Formats: sequence, structure tokens, C-alpha cells
Amino acid sequence: MVNDYEYFKKEVYKLTKIDLSAYKEKQMKRRIDTLIMRHKISGYDNFVAKLKEDESVLEEFVSYLTINVSEFYRNPEQWEILENQVLPLLEERFGTGIKIWSAACSTGDEPYTISMLFSEHMKKSDYSIYASDLDKTVLAVAQKGVYAKKSLLGLPSKYKDKYFTAADEEDFVVDPSLKRTIKFDRHNLLLDPFPKNLSLIVCRNVLIYFTEEAKNEIFKKFYDSLAPGGVLFLGATEQIMDYRDIGYIRKASFFFEKPL
Ligand SMILES: C[S@@+](CC[C@H](N)C(=O)[O-])C[C@H]1O[C@@H](n2cnc3c(N)ncnc32)[C@H](O)[C@@H]1O
Repeated sequence: MVNDYEYFKKEVYKLTKIDLSAYKEKQMKRRIDTLIMRHKISGYDNFVAKLKEDESVLEEFVSYLTINVSEFYRNPEQWEILENQVLPLLEERFGTGIKIWSAACSTGDEPYTISMLFSEHMKKSDYSIYASDLDKTVLAVAQKGVYAKKSLLGLPSKYKDKYFTAADEEDFVVDPSLKRTIKFDRHNLLLDPFPKNLSLIVCRNVLIYFTEEAKNEIFKKFYDSLAPGGVLFLGATEQIMDYRDIGYIRKASFFFEKPL
């Protein structure tokens, strides 16, 4: 295999606008090498040629590299903190205009979970969710809103019963009223401008793949995107080392607030 990962990163950026330098290199390179071998191709240059000539391989590559694992109500204890401690604060501060961003939302499990929780406490017109991801394949799944029985296993039955209808033995369709609270769109956290004036940013299980520099840059940009009193909600293994330097107050584990 031609050992020119630098060349490969440049070509991938030209093709996809994904900057592989911002992702942890060892992990990312291992994944890419596995995919290249699976295609029985030798050398990054030959794989680049393949990506250029075959749109389906390019799509497969983006999907493979972005690691799309998600589930409804992932890490329940964190959702409980959101519901019991953070949501009442947001309600008090932002009233009927709560603006939420689910950044790197994958197949939609996360923004639908957010919407279920909020709709238990307020009218659906009181909050809006912008849900984004880099990978258009997962966004298509999210927009369709049809999920296999097994992906709903972690969701408390009160939500499952209320917000899903069985299409057949295997598939469950999300309630259209929930879908209307979410706007799905493609967004690259490393490139595109961030939305502003947000009450809540939920960004979980994606920053773990980024380098420290890229992560810190994003934490600062999230801070700028939050309205005063807004909250950032991270994944169960993620922390902001220098959150005070950026200006955040730590509300609870994995929840960081921009002061009022
Ligand atoms: C492991 S999933 C996390 C999904 C969801 N947030 C959760 O916690 O269940 C990571 C997601 O990050 C997305 N992603 C990776 N790099 C990204 C980038 N630069 N910009 C936006 N999304 C990205 C992937 O496409 C993938 O859907």
C-alpha cells in the first residue's frame, strides 16, 4: 500500500470537504485501511482513483468513516438529568421559544428522543429542533422515521407506546407530529457556520473521534452559538478540560452552561 496518508487526506478533502486531519489519526487510518483492503485495492492512490470514478464507493466511504452508531435514549441517566434539571431551566429562560440543535444526529434517534422529552413538558410549538449530520445516508434514515424494533429497546415504553406505530412485525413509524418539530439538514462541524442564539446544543459521541485541537475549536464555537443561559449537552465519555477558560459553567456531568 502506498504509504502516503498526507496525499490521501488532501484528495479526500477535495472530494468530500471532510478534513481527516481533525480526526484522531491512528483510529481513522486503521478504519480506512480496513475498507481499502475490503475493496481489494492496494495503495491510497488507487483508492482515491476509485473514489473519483465510483459515486457509490464514495458514499460508502463517507458512511463507513463517520461511524453512525446511535440509539434512542442512549445513556438514560443523562436524559434524566436533561429532563429533571436542565429542561425546567430552559423553560424558565426561553419560554415558548426554545431553540435546540442536535449536532451530529446520525439516524435521528437523538433528536426524536429530545422531542419526546420536551413534548412531555410543553407544547410542540414551544420548541424547535435543528438536527444535522455530515452523512446524507443517515439523514435520509432520520427523515424517513422508520425504525427496527431492536433500535427502540432502550426507550421507556411510555414513549414507545405514545410516539410509535407498528408498520409490521419489525418496523415502527415515528409520530408525524414529532417529525414536524425537527428540521434535518447536512452540516459539517469542521467547516460550516454554526447556528446562533441556541437554548440547547446536544452533541454526543462524535467529538471523541476528533483531535484535541479540533475539539477545542468546536467547544468555543458552541459557546458562541449558545444564547446566554443556554446549555451544551455532551456524551457520556466526553468532557471539556478547560471549560472555565472558554466561559462555561459546569451544571452537571456532561452539561455546560453559558452564563446568563
Ligand atoms: C456515533 S454517531 C453519534 C450519533 C448521536 N449523536 C448519538 O450519540 O447517538 C456520530 C455521528 O457523527 C457524524 N459526524 C462525523 N464527523 C462529523 C462532522 N465533521 N460533522 C458533522 N457530523 C459528523 C457521523 O456521520 C455520525 O452520524
